[in-house]
Amino acid sequence: MNRSHYFWSFILLVALLCTLNWFLYNYQVYRNHYWSYTQNSSFQEDIAKFYPTSNKDVFVYRRRPETENVNCGQVLAGDTAYLKTVTGEYRIKIAENESLNMSCEAVMDRILSRDHVLRPLENGVAFARVVYMDYELIEKHVEMSYHPQNSFCFAIDKKAAKEFKERMQAMASCLPNVLLLPDDLSVDSHGHNTNLAHYNCLRALINKPGWNYAILLQNHDLITKSVYELEKIFNWLGGANDVAIRPELGRLDKKHFKWDPMSLKLFRNESEIDPVILNTTLKFAKGAVQSSLSRAAVDWMTRTVDLTTFIDQWNHGTYGVDEQFTQAFQISDFLGMPGHFTDKCIKKGIITEGITRFAQWTHGDQSKCASKKSRHGICIMGIEHLSMMAKSEHLMFNKVLPLFDYSIIECTAELLFNRTFLGQIHHPLNEEYYSNMINVLYHKHHHEPNYTFNCDNDH
Ligand SMILES: *[C@@H]1O[C@H](CO)[C@@H](O)[C@H](O)[C@H]1NC(C)=O
Ligand SMILES: *[C@@H]1O[C@H](CO)[C@@H](O)[C@H](O)[C@H]1NC(C)=O
Ligand SMILES: *[C@@H]1O[C@H](CO)[C@@H](O)[C@H](O)[C@H]1NC(C)=O
Ligand SMILES: *[C@@H]1O[C@H](CO)[C@@H](O)[C@H](O)[C@H]1NC(C)=O
Ligand SMILES: *[C@@H]1O[C@H](CO)[C@@H](O)[C@H](O)[C@H]1NC(C)=O
Ligand SMILES: *[C@@H]1O[C@H](CO)[C@@H](O)[C@H](O)[C@H]1NC(C)=O
Ligand SMILES: *[C@@H]1O[C@H](CO)[C@@H](O)[C@H](O)[C@H]1NC(C)=O
Repeated sequence: MNRSHYFWSFILLVALLCTLNWFLYNYQVYRNHYWSYTQNSSFQEDIAKFYPTSNKDVFVYRRRPETENVNCGQVLAGDTAYLKTVTGEYRIKIAENESLNMSCEAVMDRILSRDHVLRPLENGVAFARVVYMDYELIEKHVEMSYHPQNSFCFAIDKKAAKEFKERMQAMASCLPNVLLLPDDLSVDSHGHNTNLAHYNCLRALINKPGWNYAILLQNHDLITKSVYELEKIFNWLGGANDVAIRPELGRLDKKHFKWDPMSLKLFRNESEIDPVILNTTLKFAKGAVQSSLSRAAVDWMTRTVDLTTFIDQWNHGTYGVDEQFTQAFQISDFLGMPGHFTDKCIKKGIITEGITRFAQWTHGDQSKCASKKSRHGICIMGIEHLSMMAKSEHLMFNKVLPLFDYSIIECTAELLFNRTFLGQIHHPLNEEYYSNMINVLYHKHHHEPNYTFNCDNDH
């Protein structure tokens, strides 16, 4: 009697689980189906017909009042006469909202409207960003790259305004995939503590599942590819890191510090490491703070090695001390960081820029910038850059300032919205380009016995 009772309970339980599973499966199929359905423009027209007032807005990017009348499509099409009406004295800057509603409901609605469905990603992206100002831009960054599988880590500069910190805390407390580090580091424009802030973010992000590349960013870097485009591009990179490599000119402090893995207390467990490696001075280059690192590289940086002594030694320098961090590990191939590159090209004077950051240098002449505005020798991006940006292979623009030109931010956000939710494709990604970058080819082939590596192959 008792046994048959257990038996039937068991059968009932199995039946229940099967039914539940069936529902979950169908729900997933439905979500995916619904998503591809919404990408069909005739679906969008149908919606517009059946819901003439309310749901039509689902397919329109929501603008701020000050940029409501900017015609991003016309700028994108290269209409130079129109461009004159939104540049120069007519350039539109942000009108900051002093009374922004920071309730969770309001924040979430701004970041991802409930009407929008995002299909699952094969692999997400982690964003590690050092921030100190312009909360509404920071929230826009999250909106533009939002996906439940993506993770966002923010390290706030200790000197940031109280209101900025409070808003950041409010956003982070609403969204499980937004991480906020304690604001105990003071970051400056010479790069002090920037690497440490990013490293702390990487240490937090490695515990989050769902992403296979991490991007290191600063406050005003604008990501210019949609979440689905990033997924594709990082897939083509296939595990290679993307780090700009230029010559480092004499800032390495060899007088006070040693730079071999043993002196740097680099490997957490030295017992397996070849003593020759432990005693080999690292190779150095300068690039940008902004880099894209594979998950395996981040895992190595946070769990196999400990970079705090390395970071601390650079922090003692005077200026530009944050542009050698990922570079050193990327080209010190003997360390074996996953996805690394080599110093063979930079030794020949050949620079590899990569795709992570686009920056236009003024070389001392601000009037060379399309926007006629620069900061620290780099052009500030204006609406003039939109159509170039839409075609660029780069993942990010450095940099945009909302109090200089907000149209470029709004129009980029609209462009990514259109690509994400309306399935618009003006500039199909060039797979050939990404999968033939020199760091990608090196990563794919350097273990092959007869591989001959040619630095001149880069684009
Ligand atoms: C888009 O939807 C229309 C009407 O519902 C249908 O005839 C057409 O085949 C669909 N196209 C695609 C690519 O799904
Ligand atoms: C986005 O799509 C809408 C609707 O098709 C269009 O009017 C607008 O110009 C597009 N914006 C951009 C930046 O491509
Ligand atoms: C400012 O934010 C409030 C609350 O989120 C909103 O109601 C209002 O429309 C915003 N004002 C502007 C000018 O965007
Ligand atoms: C903020 O937004 C929420 C949700 O939309 C709303 O319930 C609340 O009344 C708003 N608060 C203020 C002060 O407007
Ligand atoms: C260090 O690595 C060796 C060899 O793999 C291992 O036996 C040892 O337990 C490790 N030590 C620690 C502290 O993990
Ligand atoms: C490390 O290398 C230096 C020179 O390259 C050499 O003088 C020194 O003896 C080596 N130290 C160890 C512990 O192998
Ligand atoms: C590598 O080169 C050697 C000598 O030229 C040749 O014998 C060998 O077959 C090559 N190996 C591969 C994998 O191509």
